[in-house]
Amino acid sequence: MDDHPASRTASSSTAPVSPAPQVSVWARGLDGIAYGGDYNPEQWPEEVWAEDVRLMREAGVTFATVGVFSWVLVEPEEGVFDFTWLDRLVDLLHTSGIRVVLGTPTAVPPAWFYRAHPEARVVTRDGVTLGFGSRGMVAPSAPAYRAAAVRVATALAERYGAHPALALWHVHNEYGVPVAEDYSEHALHAFRDWLRARYGTLDELNTRWGTAFWGQRYGDWDEVGLPAAAASVLNPAERLDFSRFSDDQLRACFVAERDAIRAHSGVPVTTNFMAFACESTDLWKWGREVDVVSNDHYLDAADPRNQVTLAQAADLTRSVAQGAPWFLMEHSTSAVNWQPRNVAKQPGELRRNSLQHVARGADAVGFFQWRASRSGAEKFHSAMLPHAGTGSRVWREVVAFGADLGRLAEVQGARVHARVAVLWDQESAWAQGLEWRPSVDVDARERTAAWYRALWDDQVTIDFAHPSAELSRYALVVAPASYLLTADDAANLSRYVAGGGILVVSYFAGIVDQDDTVHAGGYGAPLREALGLTVEEFAPLRAGDAVRVAWHGHGAPTDGGIRHELVADTWTDHLALDGAEVVATYADGPVAGGPAVTRHAHGRGYGWYVSTRLDDDGLRAVLAAAYRDAGLAPREPGVGRDVEIVVRRGGEHDYTFVLNHGAEPASVAATGDELLAGTPVDGWLKVPAGEVAVVRSTR
Ligand code: GAL
Repeated sequence: MDDHPASRTASSSTAPVSPAPQVSVWARGLDGIAYGGDYNPEQWPEEVWAEDVRLMREAGVTFATVGVFSWVLVEPEEGVFDFTWLDRLVDLLHTSGIRVVLGTPTAVPPAWFYRAHPEARVVTRDGVTLGFGSRGMVAPSAPAYRAAAVRVATALAERYGAHPALALWHVHNEYGVPVAEDYSEHALHAFRDWLRARYGTLDELNTRWGTAFWGQRYGDWDEVGLPAAAASVLNPAERLDFSRFSDDQLRACFVAERDAIRAHSGVPVTTNFMAFACESTDLWKWGREVDVVSNDHYLDAADPRNQVTLAQAADLTRSVAQGAPWFLMEHSTSAVNWQPRNVAKQPGELRRNSLQHVARGADAVGFFQWRASRSGAEKFHSAMLPHAGTGSRVWREVVAFGADLGRLAEVQGARVHARVAVLWDQESAWAQGLEWRPSVDVDARERTAAWYRALWDDQVTIDFAHPSAELSRYALVVAPASYLLTADDAANLSRYVAGGGILVVSYFAGIVDQDDTVHAGGYGAPLREALGLTVEEFAPLRAGDAVRVAWHGHGAPTDGGIRHELVADTWTDHLALDGAEVVATYADGPVAGGPAVTRHAHGRGYGWYVSTRLDDDGLRAVLAAAYRDAGLAPREPGVGRDVEIVVRRGGEHDYTFVLNHGAEPASVAATGDELLAGTPVDGWLKVPAGEVAVVRSTR
């Protein structure tokens, strides 16, 4: 996804993350599974609008997201508002029975704003000031921007806050992309204030940042700068704080707009996230600030199994929503236009992708965008109504899918229940991603995706959880990337295991605290109780080198498909065992003969440790043993790995989504009513290649 704005890295605060109270708020007046997309009609003469609305109705569209980039239209001059255009649009949608998701247009300030406030432009890490002509290039800490954003949000809220068509407020667009970090003067002052609030005294900052090393001690707050381009590696604690700060600045912009809206409107507020795709937002913190969680997801066309990463993003979104229904704000009907090779979706893929999101908790399916643009940067992006018009395959699929969603109306509000959690901590990923780590090949996102994929292949539905979360409802917790783990969070994991939980920890875990300072007592010391070991020394491998791992202890894989000798690369550890049982040993490599995989009884549960980068089969071997410990029987016998099965529960019904991503027909045991075709299922459900079935059964 290298060219998409989301691929930039950056930025949040360290308040403990515990679940917000679960209040299920939903977009007003959207019944059933909502269907629609971004609608940018400012691109066409108004005659086209009537046709748009007629076709929306034909497709079963129930909402349109408008105004996301329309700042200059509603405020053509500073402080001068003109709502005539938007009034006509909102009224037209209303009289046509289409609900409105109303954007605040603050991702693209008008040209007049940049002329009046040139100092509010983003400065990059290299010191380049970004100019007008794109989007997302305004400094979040700039007072002029904040004031202008709140002013336009207030004006919109006063005008439309009680409009009967209004379903949801959509603040800004994808905070954190394309620019997450800003190195302007505004950012510098805001960063110093942020640090003062966090540390209180300069002494505390010096201690926590470890400035005694390399003579970095600060004697005055005015000496503290931004972590911009430097001769060599910057202080990692400073870098980590700057990521937190940058995320906090963006969130403060959101909160300011949200509160301005709330002063005039009771309609719920969201902003569209980019779960996993945007590396600069700590969604656990953002999730607490929105009324409804929404997400955008675009497939990585280069990934032949991108259904797995789609599911991963959907699961994180639902988890950030604390299990409540969420809103898929954007995805694409077919190709995007910003990847190197923009592969068109195959027939049926639009439906399959969309229903994956619904299976994983989405109660709204939106696309970018309704009608394909003829001009501008995104004219080669697919749309619900493509350039080829209503004679096209994409249009036929859009209309057919609208009818599908109509058949799934009763699924609205039903929830996904997972027995397995995967830990995800954005702060840890930021810290781990900094320079001068033991190996450039150790990558938090890569390991998270790998363990997720292994679970997906086993048809295990998971929630993501922050390491501070209450975990006792999960039979199994996997920690793929817990480099930064506070002592409190590690104690939480130990409690989980002591209470009967099964914890699987991947290498390079429990290494540093919130300040990127190595824990006292050795690598992994805070996890010693749960895992029965610490790490004496890291033993990373050279690029291209592999090691063999022989499994001989507890839970030796018995499944014919899984090898007893596993293959790994990238990383090994010299372990100092403190009670852990060795279940697999290095057959070669720098730690030949030493423990590779261990299991430790702690209280009523077990802590597993995997000290190397196993391939997918290896991860599944570990999981197979951990499932046994956890009393889980994950896989439907005889069902291939390309068949995705997810259950949503509502009232006394289970809605089982079966999505066949493979090239062969699948058969799954099921009894009930298949809702998409409207046929009864008696014991056995056949799902042709590429198709989807949704079976309602009574519990
Ligand atoms: C999203 C963005 C949309 C559009 C889309 C194209 O990230 O919110 O405005 O640019 O990408 O895929």
